[in-house]
Amino acid sequence: MVEEHPRGFRKRRYLMCPPVHFDVTYSINPWMDLSKPVDQELALAQWEDLRDLYVELGHTVELIDPLPGLPDMVFAANGATVVDGRVLAARFRNEERAAEGPAYAEWFRANGFPEVHESGHVNEGEGDYLVTGRWVLAGCGFRSDPAGHRAAQEFFGRPVVSLTLTDPRYYHLDTALAVLDDDRIMYNPSAFSPGSRAVLRELFPDALLASDADAAVFGLNAVSDGHHVVLAQAATGLTEQLRAHGFQPIGVDMSELMKAGGGVKCCTLELRPPLTAGRPMFAAPA
Ligand code: ARG
Repeated sequence: MVEEHPRGFRKRRYLMCPPVHFDVTYSINPWMDLSKPVDQELALAQWEDLRDLYVELGHTVELIDPLPGLPDMVFAANGATVVDGRVLAARFRNEERAAEGPAYAEWFRANGFPEVHESGHVNEGEGDYLVTGRWVLAGCGFRSDPAGHRAAQEFFGRPVVSLTLTDPRYYHLDTALAVLDDDRIMYNPSAFSPGSRAVLRELFPDALLASDADAAVFGLNAVSDGHHVVLAQAATGLTEQLRAHGFQPIGVDMSELMKAGGGVKCCTLELRPPLTAGRPMFAAPA
């Protein structure tokens, strides 16, 4: 049973893309093994369970139409980053995924987001840009261009912290780090450069640290609403730690999507609402 308003919980709005055309037809990360067939029916069932779970937890799920020929489009997290209702649409590093950027940008334009900016730098959306209460944590090393980090800071008006990934299995930031609430994160230090590890220790001294085993089952590719943390059920160590820290972990099976190097978070793009009262978007002119 889901409690009515658990501590830390904030109702979220997510964008997802049904894995109707999902497959592994090219290999752009170490998880994509062309010799392993994908069970499309199972992928769809796992994805539907995730969508249903979000709805059951009280969240809103919007859908974008999947396009044929774009087997990775199911990974909605890569389509954009949305902060304060402002949309920074993705530009993909790999030709195979290039058409997804404009497709996501189009969805936002058609769905009432007044500010949609298509990134001029390689930028793989929330795959590499993760939003905390104060910062935007931005990954580089494999996909997103670090020059785009500065552009994102300018666009969102939020401080962007650059983090360098060093292990090709964790090619996107959201495979190595997850935001749990406004000021808590969990991550696997061994996925980062020494300097980035030091930065994370400095900014988040109380972070939950994931073991290599939990990272390897994509336990960090998790989605938190501030209370419930949806993550790979195989990440048993993280599950225990989350519980000990007052979160409610919910384990799911995304084994088919994992064949493309994706998990819970990869399938989920958070649509953060525009600012209302309180925090100004930009400093008032002098
Ligand atoms: N096959 C996709 C790629 O390599 C997987 C993307 C996973 N998405 C994510 N947010 N990490 O680009």
